[in-house]
Amino acid sequence: MTDHILIERQGAVQIIRMNRPDKKNAITRAMYAEMAAALVAGDKDAAVRCHVFLGVPGAFSSGNDLADFMVIASGGEGGGEVWDFLLALARTEKPVVSGVDGIAVGIGTTINLHCDLTFATPRTIFRTPFVDLGLVPEAGSSLIAPQLLGLQGAFALLGLGEGFPAERALAAGLIYKVVAEDELETAALAAAADIAAKPPEALKIARDLMRGDRTQLVERIKEEGAHFRARLKSDEARAALVAFMTRKKG
Ligand code: COA
Repeated sequence: MTDHILIERQGAVQIIRMNRPDKKNAITRAMYAEMAAALVAGDKDAAVRCHVFLGVPGAFSSGNDLADFMVIASGGEGGGEVWDFLLALARTEKPVVSGVDGIAVGIGTTINLHCDLTFATPRTIFRTPFVDLGLVPEAGSSLIAPQLLGLQGAFALLGLGEGFPAERALAAGLIYKVVAEDELETAALAAAADIAAKPPEALKIARDLMRGDRTQLVERIKEEGAHFRARLKSDEARAALVAFMTRKKG
């Protein structure tokens, strides 16, 4: 157990909060494991009707913990937690809402591609610097982003690593609403409560119809994962990770 993930129930809503503010919610292996377990357990529990992802003020997530990536880049063991989490997320049976404030980097962006409703604040910037890190897109983003953004928008996000501030993300169809910082959690939780109050069987069928067959998505996540794991051991990734670890601040 880690206090970096806080799981809470509000009625029929399960809140999964990333809570590692000192590292801007960089996600460790233990955090992925707890989030995956919460999704799977919540899906099985009839008392849960909606999942909500939240972060801390100013940071939804700075992405995968780069120190964990460095371990793999240096020849160490990586573990399968992130992939278990991504597959649990892609297969989630119940609607998922997210409330995003501030930093949303890497998987901090791609989690939201799986959400049914994402609320973000005006200061939020979505960014996926995979290629700059010598890596490749993950979480099925190479499949979902072109569908949402068109090929050129997806290339801007996933290839160039361009930032998508909240208003651009909204215009591009990446998110549902932009709300003020002090209204974010209330808005996300109210939406989740509305979802939880819907007839669950009808909602499940409607959601499944909208999502379609997820086989291709799951296959893409695995395909991306194979590239990603190989890329982590590349000279390009190692150089980028060393540059981050040894950067001078200020
Ligand atoms: N993994 C591990 N640690 C991270 C991290 C990450 N992904 N992102 C931030 N941190 C750590 C920083 O090293 C710093 O730790 P320290 O105080 O012990 O030195 C702390 O979190 C605060 O980060 P800092 O860079 O000082 O905050 P900032 O507001 O100036 O910048 C970011 C925030 C997210 C823009 C910047 O930290 C960053 O670019 N991080 C890397 C993001 C990334 O590439 N993620 C992987 C995507 S695949």
